[in-house]
This record gives sequence, C-alpha cells and structure tokens, in this order.
Amino acid sequence: MDLASVDELLTTTRSVRKRLDFDRPVDAELIKECLEIAIQAPTGSNQQGWSFLVVSDEEKKRKIAELYRRGAELYIQMPQPERPSEDLRTQQRPRVTESSIYLLENMHRAPYYVIFCIEGRVEELPQFVQASTYGSILPAAWSFMLAARARGLGSAWTTIHLFYEKEAAGILGIPDNITQAVLMPVAYFTGETFKPAKRIPLHQVTHWDTWGNKKS
Ligand SMILES: Cc1cc2nc3c(=O)[nH]c(=O)nc-3n(C[C@H](O)[C@H](O)[C@H](O)COP(=O)(O)O)c2cc1C
Repeated sequence: MDLASVDELLTTTRSVRKRLDFDRPVDAELIKECLEIAIQAPTGSNQQGWSFLVVSDEEKKRKIAELYRRGAELYIQMPQPERPSEDLRTQQRPRVTESSIYLLENMHRAPYYVIFCIEGRVEELPQFVQASTYGSILPAAWSFMLAARARGLGSAWTTIHLFYEKEAAGILGIPDNITQAVLMPVAYFTGETFKPAKRIPLHQVTHWDTWGNKKS
C-alpha cells in the first residue's frame, strides 16, 4: 500500500460544510461506488443489517433540512459536557460554529443526503446490544466518507436531525424497527487543502494497563 496516500486520506477527511459545491451535480453512480466500498465495513456477527437511504428529492431534502434546523435549536440549549483540553475546543469552537450555521442554512442545496440506517431499536436494551448495533453501521459511514473524499466529494457527519428522527422516518418512509445513525449531505468539495486537525494530544487520552496510567 502507498502509506503516504492512505495516511493522508485518513488524517485529512474533515467535516466539509462551507466548501460544499452546491452548484455541481453529482452522478448517482459515484454515490453507489462509495457505498460499494462502505459495505466492506465490519458488522457484529456479520449481520449486515444496514440500509443506506440516498435522498435527492428536493422537497424531501428541504423537509429534512427543516427538521435539522429545529433540532439545532434544541441542541444549542443543551449543556455541553466538560472535557479535557477545553482550551483547544474553545479555540476551535467559533470556526466549527460558523461552519455549522452555514450548513444549517444551506444543507438542502446538497445534491444528496445519505442516511446510514441499521435494523433494530436500542432504546432500553443492554449496553452490549447498543454497542453492537451502532458498531454495525458507523464503520460503514466512515468508510463512505473516506471513499467520497478520495473521489472529490465532501460530506459532514451529522446527527442533529435525529432530535426529530420519527418525523424524518415519516417523510422518508423508514419503518419503525430501523434506527437512523448518521446523515451526510454530500457534494463535491472546492479546493484541495484539507489538513490534519489539531486534536487533544494522544498521550492525554491513552491509558496503559490501568485507567489513569498515561505515558508521555
Ligand atoms: C457523532 C457525531 C455527530 C456529529 N453531528 C454533527 C452535526 O449534527 N452537525 C454538524 O455540523 N457536525 C456534526 N459532527 C461533526 C463534528 O462537529 C466534527 O467531526 C468535529 O468538529 C471535528 O471536525 P472534523 O470532522 O473536521 O475533524 C458530528 C460528528 C460526529 C462524530
């Protein structure tokens, strides 16, 4: 493998919001190509209970975008959890907020939404089932995002419309036993200047043998 290219892909696949090119059409075949790669991802017991809902219908996209906007109103009222390296997140917050607002106002313009779905509902089920259910769709979603980025397509991992998951299911005809895990607006991105992000340093979040035992 060409490690340099693989590592570049893995370290520069960002949430693209302001650089989505809403005016450039995307061929459905390209979305299918990325999904073909996504279905190589692992699933618990190889169950492959996933479904991928690709939305290009203008009215449906607008309705989902409206749910997303309403979800964002609820989200901003939620208390944010304290995290280590709060400084880093505080530094990054204005940029993330600005670009999130841009997406909020424009997401209906993306040629496609791809919604990653998994069979089963996890409310009130044991942790094992919850972890196995989400763990059987999130790797595919990330693979899709990587495959898309490698083909010039940008996307942003979003969950905010899930404040109104039922309403979205109604708009899209999703059955009651299906869980929506991620919605990605997809469009070509502009520019090719994605960089590795600043993250909380690895040594602060890596524990060796016992929780709290960190090495620098
Ligand atoms: C579980 C999850 C939920 C997210 N939900 C949203 C969302 O609803 N809207 C949004 O604009 N970004 C959302 N994001 C994107 C994050 O804000 C983003 O990944 C983070 O700021 C780091 O930026 P990067 O992806 O460019 O590295 C979500 C990411 C994850 C992993």
